[in-house]
Amino acid sequence: MVSSGTHYYVLLFIAIVLQYISKENSFPKSLLADVCEYDSRMLCPECFSDVPECEKFDKIFKLHGTNFFNMINSIFNSHSTRMGSIREQNTLAVMKYLNRDNTIEKLLQQYCDVHSLSRENCKWAQHDGNLDQAKEFIENSILDSERIEGTIFCPIRDNRQSLRRFLGLFEPTDNEMWNLVAVRINVEPLLLKLFAKHKFNPFHVPKLLHTFGFSILESYEGKTLQHYYGYPLKTRMLIASELIKAAFRFTEGIHGFRFFLTDINPDNVVVDVSRNSQNVRVAFVDLDNVILLDSWSEIFVSNHGQQHVHSRIECNGCFAYVQEDICRYQNSDLNLFATCQLLLENLNGNYAEGLLHYNHATKSSPLYNEALQMLHSHLKECVYCQPPDCRNRSLILKDMLRIIDQTIN
Ligand SMILES: Nc1ncnc2c1ncn2[C@@H]1O[C@H](COP(=O)(O)OP(=O)(O)OP(=O)(O)O)[C@@H](O)[C@H]1O
Ligand SMILES: [Mg+2]
Repeated sequence: MVSSGTHYYVLLFIAIVLQYISKENSFPKSLLADVCEYDSRMLCPECFSDVPECEKFDKIFKLHGTNFFNMINSIFNSHSTRMGSIREQNTLAVMKYLNRDNTIEKLLQQYCDVHSLSRENCKWAQHDGNLDQAKEFIENSILDSERIEGTIFCPIRDNRQSLRRFLGLFEPTDNEMWNLVAVRINVEPLLLKLFAKHKFNPFHVPKLLHTFGFSILESYEGKTLQHYYGYPLKTRMLIASELIKAAFRFTEGIHGFRFFLTDINPDNVVVDVSRNSQNVRVAFVDLDNVILLDSWSEIFVSNHGQQHVHSRIECNGCFAYVQEDICRYQNSDLNLFATCQLLLENLNGNYAEGLLHYNHATKSSPLYNEALQMLHSHLKECVYCQPPDCRNRSLILKDMLRIIDQTIN
């Protein structure tokens, strides 16, 4: 059943589109600005402390591909990521619309239904501007234990404190409501902001460049991992080494929060290789599905130091894990497992497809061949076996880093 609220937003959307059809020449120029206006005036005015400068969106960013339906589709439908460039520097950039599948509209509708607010009065703020009720509603939605996608907070019990502690990591000048909504719809911009502060021990992620309404612009970081499967072994080893370092970094985390990425696959990792192939840059670009584990939670006092050890779960074309198991311990080797799997095989268990596959077409030196054999045996141990029968995954991966380093240098 489609609610009357949904009809309302559909009509509003059609009105915006019709406005552009009537002045087609100016269409590509201000669609982005209009989406930003819609976000900040209609969808959640409470999420913006200052009126956002939506008109700057087009001045700063040029969307590639101005096909009318492509643009409508990409901005409002499931494909919420689009390529473009930053006009001033003429550098590539990526735009992501966070409110995928109208999640905020649906949340607001649920909120109004729960509080019996009529369509005219359906807004986040109460008459006196108070947002406490709305914030509690969104917090409950974030912490809903039935949810399996998006941001999950661990431990499962008493995690409201963890959510609040996480929100407390951001600037006091940030709009709290925007941050809270972002945790619910797509936490990526918040993580990028947080990670950007750690330049000396960096995370492998893009840079957040701008925010307009619920659209973000981030740095373009290269082509997806798949693109490099045919590259020489040396380059693939360099990429593998960065992937392993990234897995350790996300697991180590910051401010007591560990980040377990639950959607690690070749599409969500992008790579840039320098012209002389000596340097590679790796970035994880889809940080929407993530487990935020608060390792400082008091719940872990009783099992301090113990860690969750993931066991491979057969799952054709997908990555399966048991959320409750991960949430039960202060640490997990899930990122390490997922990285091993990415290097060894595709998600369908065909290890010829992993990044570190043998390439029979190109001859490698005996040194590289020997190293590759060792790496494969490490990867098999990491994917198909776990302690107490096999070595700890962090030892295996550290050993792999050493092998790669010795081979390349
Ligand atoms: N910062 C970036 N640099 C380079 N490419 C990127 C970047 N961010 C995203 N991409 C590309 O866009 C694709 C989709 O982005 P992302 O994974 O963030 O969105 P998604 O939620 O998976 O959306 P979709 O369903 O459209 O794939 C990625 O697979 C990657 O190819
Ligand atoms: Mg993706």
